[in-house]
Amino acid sequence: MFEIIDKRELCDKVYQFKIRAQHLAKKAKAGQFVILRKDEMGERVPMSIGGLDPASGVLTVVIQEVGKTSASMNRMKTGDHFADVVGPLGIPSHIEKFGHCVCIGGGVGIPPIRPIAQALKEIGNKVTTIIGSRTKDLLIFEQELREASHELLISTDDGSYGTHGFVTTILQKMIDDGGHIDMVIAIGPVPMMKAVVATTREPKIKTYVSLNPIMVDGTGMCGACRVTVGGKTRFACVDGPDFDGHEVDFDEMTKRMKMYVRYEKQAYDRFLQDEHCRLAKAAEAPKDKNA
Ligand SMILES: Cc1cc2nc3c(=O)[nH]c(=O)nc-3n(C[C@H](O)[C@H](O)[C@H](O)COP(=O)(O)OP(=O)(O)OC[C@H]3O[C@@H](n4cnc5c(N)ncnc54)[C@H](O)[C@@H]3O)c2cc1C
Ligand code: FES
Repeated sequence: MFEIIDKRELCDKVYQFKIRAQHLAKKAKAGQFVILRKDEMGERVPMSIGGLDPASGVLTVVIQEVGKTSASMNRMKTGDHFADVVGPLGIPSHIEKFGHCVCIGGGVGIPPIRPIAQALKEIGNKVTTIIGSRTKDLLIFEQELREASHELLISTDDGSYGTHGFVTTILQKMIDDGGHIDMVIAIGPVPMMKAVVATTREPKIKTYVSLNPIMVDGTGMCGACRVTVGGKTRFACVDGPDFDGHEVDFDEMTKRMKMYVRYEKQAYDRFLQDEHCRLAKAAEAPKDKNA
């Protein structure tokens, strides 16, 4: 069992969990992920590592509520325990002396950028990080990324904070201004990673993306996370999650990720309905006079 030693809300439907996982926090490297299971009957869900503290054996994950399992995890509290935290899984990110690295994160893709930016900076790269969100209220990990990078640039879709536009608005301006970039790594929603790759294709900047297809076992056995990279079939859980962005077939990946949407929505709606009934019943129950 893996204890939640701290849980806090970062923004609407997004929570940060610090989990005691001694072996994992010592072994894991930037870019890897874990598979969490809330309880014995729970679904296994992959989550990126947003922070590692080998000294205290604590691992940070950030979970956005998008369906039944992420919702039930986000109802857990400090002191509760996850049944399983399996990992570290996947191949660590490519950390080498590139020169000037631009790390780009969007949404819940921002936290896993932190250990990557830290590792790139530690070995002597210049690290510029760009993070973006729809609006200021949804921006997470600003301070963490400021500390992990030499420079932090921010965009919001509605212009409520930082540059008005997307992370690619900032990246394109850096390129147009003649800024030298040796490597880009992007983690976030598929449309964001696809747009980053489109921006760096012509100037031929090496670009890694961290893919998040549907995963089941996370060990290369089930085939659920199949993606096409450079015309070849790869499994994101064991061959990735990082791949050369210019080689990824994003359109196929987008289609595969929509395969179960109807069932996922039904399960989420049922979860919310059950929760609503439970809360309503609890509110109606006569109060214990001795309580
Ligand atoms: C390597 C990897 C790292 C990830 N890291 C994080 C993370 O750090 N934080 C986080 O909140 N989520 C992360 N995800 C996504 C997370 O695993 C899914 O959101 C979660 O499994 C959804 O489970 P659910 O039952 O709540 O929703 P479901 O009912 O399974 O899905 C609900 C909705 O979410 C979409 N969805 C399902 N799976 C994914 C997925 N893999 N990626 C994006 N959308 C998905 C579905 O299309 C659907 O619209 C990661 C996924 C992978 C593969
Ligand atoms: S999740 Fe089963 S092969 Fe990758």
